[in-house]
Amino acid sequence: MLNGEKSISRPLRWAMIGGGRTGQVGYKHRTGALRDNTAFRLVAGAFDIDPERGRDFGVNLGVDPSRCYPDYQTMFEEEAKRPDGAEVVSIATPNGTHYEITKASLNAGMHVICEKPLFFEIAQVEEIKRLAEQKNKIVGVTYGFSGHPMLFQARKMIENGELGEIRIVSLRYTHGFSATEDAEKYSEAQKWRVDPKIAGPSFVIGDLSTHTYYMSQLMLPDLKIKQLLCDRQSFIKSRAPLEDNVHMLMHYDNGAVGTAWFSAVDAGYMESQTIRIVGSKASIEFSDFQPNRLLYQIQGQPYQILYHGMPYLKKEGLADDRFGALHTEGLGESWANIYLKFARAIEAADRNDINFLRTFVYPDINAGLEGVKWIQNCVRSADSGSVWVDFQ
Ligand code: NAI
Repeated sequence: MLNGEKSISRPLRWAMIGGGRTGQVGYKHRTGALRDNTAFRLVAGAFDIDPERGRDFGVNLGVDPSRCYPDYQTMFEEEAKRPDGAEVVSIATPNGTHYEITKASLNAGMHVICEKPLFFEIAQVEEIKRLAEQKNKIVGVTYGFSGHPMLFQARKMIENGELGEIRIVSLRYTHGFSATEDAEKYSEAQKWRVDPKIAGPSFVIGDLSTHTYYMSQLMLPDLKIKQLLCDRQSFIKSRAPLEDNVHMLMHYDNGAVGTAWFSAVDAGYMESQTIRIVGSKASIEFSDFQPNRLLYQIQGQPYQILYHGMPYLKKEGLADDRFGALHTEGLGESWANIYLKFARAIEAADRNDINFLRTFVYPDINAGLEGVKWIQNCVRSADSGSVWVDFQ
């Protein structure tokens, strides 16, 4: 159980790029990083593409005005001159900027925490992975819900064989916020999401499915996708070639099969992500709309609902619990948990603790690489006429 006591020796000097006043995701980063006040301290930022708005925002957050920079290049130059300069940076800017900014951050000697989807190309991730290794820095990826303790409960139950042999995986992340063309008119964040130059080769595959895919992998680390088939379409025609709806079929290497639905045009739906895993003996179901419950359904027995924080959970399912049973934990706690993991990974990298890093489970650059591969394979299948493709 976590209680806010320090888990690293001192708070890391943290900076942000993007995530400014109008940004959708910036506050989630601050919620995560600053939750315990023992892991990160926000010391600098280039918060906004608009330098004035970014400065004003940073000052309002309590950042020293002289460390609210007009752009990230200036930030790296100036912070490098200080003995107490930033040592880790979070990148909360639109997709098309992630690669350049991550590269610049590593070259400036920073650890990096970057938004998903990490980059557009597998080769870019491989290059950055090599650079991070050379510099002895970590690159974390913010799959925001992947810190919820109930996912680790599910992982352990599956590892123990409590579901039997895994047969079926069902993934869903749908909403209706982009059901009409107006979505692009009224939201800056939605406008770039359907521009391939900024969003990359996909809309909902990159924007939504990378989360659910990573969470499913966290629960099923031993199951690898062998082949997949993806069918994507743009119900709002102006979004083409980027899809606002996608269906997928997956074949896993153990013979299991999967289905997935990701959509931004699921009008009226407000329950976000659901992951159902069916084994030969039992099934589990996790929904981030009700994350404090894990459905556990054993064939031939009444349904069970496992509640977070209860002593009957595995130690892995309790390790990152914060409030204890009865008191709801959700997205904010999950972000705090992944940020704490980033902090522990950074401290381990700084002390060259390779053994710790080898076994420590957190959304690292390999998780980012998997997400990029997933997008590439889905797009390749869809654009070849929705055919089965080998997962490369
Ligand atoms: P947004 O458009 O709402 O905000 C982007 C922010 O970055 C704005 O503050 C903007 O001024 C700033 N910015 C843009 N270019 C910049 C630059 N060169 N230097 C400094 N600041 C710059 O976008 P949103 O929705 O917040 O998405 C940002 C990233 O976060 C995307 O990669 C997106 O996929 C990801 N995202 C992740 C979520 C998660 O749960 N992990 C949720 C929402 C978005």
